[in-house]
Amino acid sequence: MASESLTTQASAALTVSQPVSSPLTSAAIFLVVTINSGEENRAAVLSLCADLSALLRSVGFRALEGSLSCIMGFGSDAWDRLFGSPRPTELHPFREIRPGPRHAVSTPGDLIFHIRAKHMDLCFELATQIMARLEGAVTTADEVHGFRYFDERDLLGFVDGTENPTGNAAAEAVFIGDEDPAFAGGSYVIVQKYLHNLDAWNKIPTEAQEKIIGRTKVSDIELDDSVKPTSAHNALTTIEENGRGIKILRDNMPFGRPGHGEFGTYFIGYSRSPRTIEQMLENMFIGRPPGNYDRILDFSTAVTGNLFFIPTATFLDSVSPDQSASSSSSQSAAGSAPVETSASTEPSKDGSLGIGSLKGENSRE
Ligand code: HEM
Repeated sequence: MASESLTTQASAALTVSQPVSSPLTSAAIFLVVTINSGEENRAAVLSLCADLSALLRSVGFRALEGSLSCIMGFGSDAWDRLFGSPRPTELHPFREIRPGPRHAVSTPGDLIFHIRAKHMDLCFELATQIMARLEGAVTTADEVHGFRYFDERDLLGFVDGTENPTGNAAAEAVFIGDEDPAFAGGSYVIVQKYLHNLDAWNKIPTEAQEKIIGRTKVSDIELDDSVKPTSAHNALTTIEENGRGIKILRDNMPFGRPGHGEFGTYFIGYSRSPRTIEQMLENMFIGRPPGNYDRILDFSTAVTGNLFFIPTATFLDSVSPDQSASSSSSQSAAGSAPVETSASTEPSKDGSLGIGSLKGENSRE
């Protein structure tokens, strides 16, 4: 009995989550790829999984203060092909929504790399190294280079990210717990790339924009319920269950090419259950009640849509290039308390990289 409990404690201490809730950064690359057919391509992806932490150390150590981090996620079909059973309970392909003119599209994507750092050079170098490792094995479905805009604003001009949970509340929002013990410490992420019609947006008065978002534009104060429409973006994305607010963690980034008239927001939301974000999307696109939809969508078009599972870093580290699709290494994620975090190069207090070897160590405090 005593030894059984020791074993449980020991294995719990070994599990390290990917750095989902690390602080917002000034630069990010969102890389979504599909895996080409063929066993050798599957093996190339598996082999990268275990080596990702070493790649990250190599790039990140060159500029420690840059806080380079990388999160790797897997789409539903890719999970089956790479790891088989068991599979995360709530992993499924992104569900598209199409009520009339508004369309939350579902687009191809087997893997996501969410690369963040204080400087784009770090993100760029890591993306380059990852793609060099995957050359010929994957096809890029989408690549977006995001930047932090003035005062954390999106290109619609509003501060974006204010109501994100922090600390324990963030961990509670994003990390799977007892509801799926084999994948505890993992997370889900939904991404959508939105393109804005800024000409049309900038033609409407600021007061009208504020009613669409639900906050004041300059000072970023939430509108009082007496003036906030039920269709406001922050009203439709407020989800309650049994009187309790269910939060998600967003790290949206502006992107664009002014010379091409392209202005966008890359939406990225992490959650311990995809259901929360799916409910938000239904509220935005269909409306709550139906028809009372999010007017952001009169000015913004979703051109991609994907759902990925984010396993723990411990899981990634234990992947073997020659494993069969039915021998998923879920042992690494089992029954564990999520411990942030591994795949980040923020220096720890002892001056070393905060990522450890990922060979069963939690090196962050
Ligand atoms: C065009 C794309 C989007 C833009 C420009 C955008 C912008 C914003 C802004 C400016 C805020 C208010 C400040 C804040 O609390 O962050 C906000 C809040 C929020 N957004 Fe979005 N958003 C977009 C898409 C989405 C999507 C697709 C979802 C989820 C499916 C979402 C979920 C949320 C949530 C949960 C909040 C916080 C609500 C609250 O608790 O007050 N957003 N967004």
